[in-house]
Amino acid sequence: MEKKNIYILAIESSCDDTSAAVLCNKKKLSNVVATQKIHEEYGGVVPELASRAHQQNIVPVVHQALSKANIDKKQLSAIAFTRGPGLMGSLLVGASFSKSLALGLDIPLIEVNHMQAHILAHFIEEEGVKTPPFPFLAMTISGGHTQIVLVRNYFDMEILGETLDDAVGEAFDKSAKLLGLPYPGGPLLDKYAQLGNPKAFPFPTPKVAGLDFSFSGLKTSILYFVQKNVKQNPEFLTEHLNDICASIQYTIIKILMEKLKKAVQQTGIKEIAIGGGVSANSGIRTALKESEKTLGWSTYIPKFEYCTDNAAMIGIVGYLKYKEGAFTDQRVTTKARYSI
Ligand code: KG4
Ligand code: ZN
Repeated sequence: MEKKNIYILAIESSCDDTSAAVLCNKKKLSNVVATQKIHEEYGGVVPELASRAHQQNIVPVVHQALSKANIDKKQLSAIAFTRGPGLMGSLLVGASFSKSLALGLDIPLIEVNHMQAHILAHFIEEEGVKTPPFPFLAMTISGGHTQIVLVRNYFDMEILGETLDDAVGEAFDKSAKLLGLPYPGGPLLDKYAQLGNPKAFPFPTPKVAGLDFSFSGLKTSILYFVQKNVKQNPEFLTEHLNDICASIQYTIIKILMEKLKKAVQQTGIKEIAIGGGVSANSGIRTALKESEKTLGWSTYIPKFEYCTDNAAMIGIVGYLKYKEGAFTDQRVTTKARYSI
């Protein structure tokens, strides 16, 4: 008998990106992301403005995802959406839209945990991209989260460690802000870091027990470092920008890699996958590639478009849940906090 194709329309609206994607089984047909530029003026995401922008973006983004995929909404098998964690007002836009559309089309609704999706993005089928075998360790590094997760199976995950204060993406963005770079500063800091000397300015690394992280101390030491040097030389930041960025990035990557090494030691698992916006960082990508040679790890880094927030990662979870018949009903509520 011919196998029936499953078409999932996925919606992601947990923070400041409105995204819709269509998947056919494990393959992505389209993945449209509308990034909200409005927050740049404020140096960070303004929740109320984010929900309003989602309201404006969601219909055109969904239309575009369907037309790029060349799929009519009548062909859809189910609708998957981000239930949490995230900003409540933002989540509500995606959830309400998904509920109404599923009801209108009379197809199942599937709720997805955003952090699980960052991990399961590795299972979107892409030519030439290998998927991690179970069990593996996943490090999710984004603007809102920093976690090391033991992944035994698609839906059997255990958090081994997480940040006690700022997320690593926040550490990048806040450091960049102290250097006068616009929001979000992470990608810019990365760009300048590639031109500088990582050993130019040593910054302390925090002493945190176990597999947990802390980044707030680093932020404070960068603040004092900037204040002290700018007082002596008002041109200090412009004259040394590349070296400062390289030194900050070197310190952050050192913190991440030390915890990963500890997690490998504790679990004996050398299959390492990363996910979340900070996986786009050149420093972590290089460090992981080197670990394959020096530590014998196998590393898995998602394609660029699946690193930052996107609906294709919600779609792959939707597909996996569809296969299990894990549907949700119309009474489902969004969750600002939602553990994996
Ligand atoms: O996963 P994501 O798109 O959104 C959240 O769920 O938080 O991650 C966004 C974060 C931002 O903090 C951004 O500055 C950071 O990822 N980021 C980077 C890079 N690209 C994005 N940080 C460092 N280097 C990069 N290349
Ligand atoms: Zn995210």
